[in-house]
Amino acid sequence: MGECYFIEINEDIKKFGKFLCKTERDSINLKRNSLQVSSKIAAIILKKCIFCRELKIPYEDLVFSKSVYGKPFLKNQNFHYNISHTIGAAVLAVSNTPIGIDIEKVRDVNLKIAKRFFHDIEEEKIFAHPENQLRRFLYVWTRKEAYLKYQGIGLHRALSSFNIYNLETPVTTIEHGEFIFSICKGTEISNKWINLSLNELFELANCYLKSYAQA
Ligand SMILES: CC(C)(COP(=O)(O)OP(=O)(O)OC[C@H]1O[C@@H](n2cnc3c(N)ncnc32)[C@H](O)[C@@H]1OP(=O)(O)O)[C@@H](O)C(=O)NCCC(=O)NCCS
Repeated sequence: MGECYFIEINEDIKKFGKFLCKTERDSINLKRNSLQVSSKIAAIILKKCIFCRELKIPYEDLVFSKSVYGKPFLKNQNFHYNISHTIGAAVLAVSNTPIGIDIEKVRDVNLKIAKRFFHDIEEEKIFAHPENQLRRFLYVWTRKEAYLKYQGIGLHRALSSFNIYNLETPVTTIEHGEFIFSICKGTEISNKWINLSLNELFELANCYLKSYAQA
């Protein structure tokens, strides 16, 4: 089992605010109406809807914990997940085995990061040709991050200590419009992913989530 959900934030998402409890509201600066905040909200709502639908348990009954390095997980469930958000989009990957996901928006990045932090082989591949260096950089970046998030160690491992062209764990990379995302899972994953619109997410939220509108 393994699914990946993608959601693009292309309109105001204020209407989702009523599905956030106080703790969730406190974790986000709702007053900052930036696309960064919107994608974080979308990630929370997406996570809550999919968990309730798949596990058939009210969200309030789920118990969460964090690994030593901060990877969040569900207690007492054979259900693994990982989320990632970037300006204008969020992704969620769920599975019955550990999983990691990372999304980035294709935007101007200082490619010197690759020279400074990446493995020599990755650097070589990125700069092998003058064209498409940014796409290759983001390909490497998201695969590295998805792998680290799969392992749950985040940036506690030096980025130059491994090379994404030589990993023992399968990673799949998807390019969709202005976004690129990679998923890492202990077993082979298909390229299938689910593109949810904000309207579909709102329908799911109405169906599965408690409204805190009067709270
Ligand atoms: C926290 C980290 C795991 C990802 O951070 P990020 O890229 O800024 O953010 P993403 O949106 O991709 O992921 C954030 C989510 O990952 C999850 N997460 C947090 N710690 C994690 C860990 N140790 N392992 C796996 N997942 C983790 C959380 O669900 C978090 O979302 P939340 O804060 O809304 O609950 C960490 O790797 C980091 O700080 N990265 C910084 C980016 C960077 O320099 N990358 C190097 C390029 S290869």
